Amino acid sequence: MMLRMSIARATVAAGTVEVWWSPIDLSPAQLDTLRATLDAATRDRIAALVRPDDRLRALVAHGILRRRAAAALGVPAADLRLRRTCPTCGATDHGKPELDVPTAPAISLSHAGRFAVVALSVDGPVGVDVEDARPDVDWERARRHVFSDAEWDASAHAPDPAAARLAAWSRKEAASKVTGHGVALGLERVLVAAGADADGWHAADLPDGLGAVRVADVALDGAVAAVAVPAGGTSVDRTVRRAEV
Ligand SMILES: CC(C)(COP(=O)(O)OP(=O)(O)OC[C@H]1O[C@@H](n2cnc3c(N)ncnc32)[C@H](O)[C@@H]1OP(=O)(O)O)[C@@H](O)C(=O)NCCC(=O)NCCS
Repeated sequence: MMLRMSIARATVAAGTVEVWWSPIDLSPAQLDTLRATLDAATRDRIAALVRPDDRLRALVAHGILRRRAAAALGVPAADLRLRRTCPTCGATDHGKPELDVPTAPAISLSHAGRFAVVALSVDGPVGVDVEDARPDVDWERARRHVFSDAEWDASAHAPDPAAARLAAWSRKEAASKVTGHGVALGLERVLVAAGADADGWHAADLPDGLGAVRVADVALDGAVAAVAVPAGGTSVDRTVRRAEV
């Protein structure tokens, strides 16, 4: 008799972009659990980061990403490999990370302040961004490098201009990560509508004919975050959950 074995899967649902977040303040045992999911290349990248807080944020982000991706694919987390390709220069040592498995969901990571956030989608590329809610922002510089004149002027009329600008900044970064061009696009040319539709999606346009995306805020206590997917794709729902370790 043939024994059929099935692996418990937590497949990423079609039509849904999954956002998972974690505080970086985890216990030593939890951090060990995440460390055990890393492959050698990711361990080396993290070890090369100079500041301890950067290493911690990257560890938590990559650890929770691997746990979710491993659950979706039904493989051990430490067996997963990432590849990176920069659409701006073609290099493979930097750029948007992807899981090196043909059937894998698209992924995006972000880490800032006390948070790590990842997103997964089986419907096409995804971008996620988190910003510390109390960053030390040079708004005059940001005005030139992040916002169009119209966006800047509109934000001045918001009840809390700094909060509106930080939220808009996060939406722009999430949008810029969808294609993997990132800030090389010039965030001031990534135009995101201030208002959202009934489902919370903001319409956005990428420059240079790269197309339209939609962006939604991700509610986190103590941080500002956003997730973006191509417009017209099927990923319309989104779930936001804390990644338990
Ligand atoms: C991606 C980018 C927006 C991240 O900004 P950030 O606020 O500093 O950092 P975040 O924590 O939000 O995101 C970092 C993560 O984004 C991912 N990432 C890096 N480059 C990316 C890109 N081009 N597109 C999408 N995601 C990217 C990585 O997973 C990275 O984390 P990791 O290094 O631990 O794996 C910014 O660094 C960027 O645009 N870089 C690309 C610039 C570029 O391409 N220049 C041209 C080079 S030829």
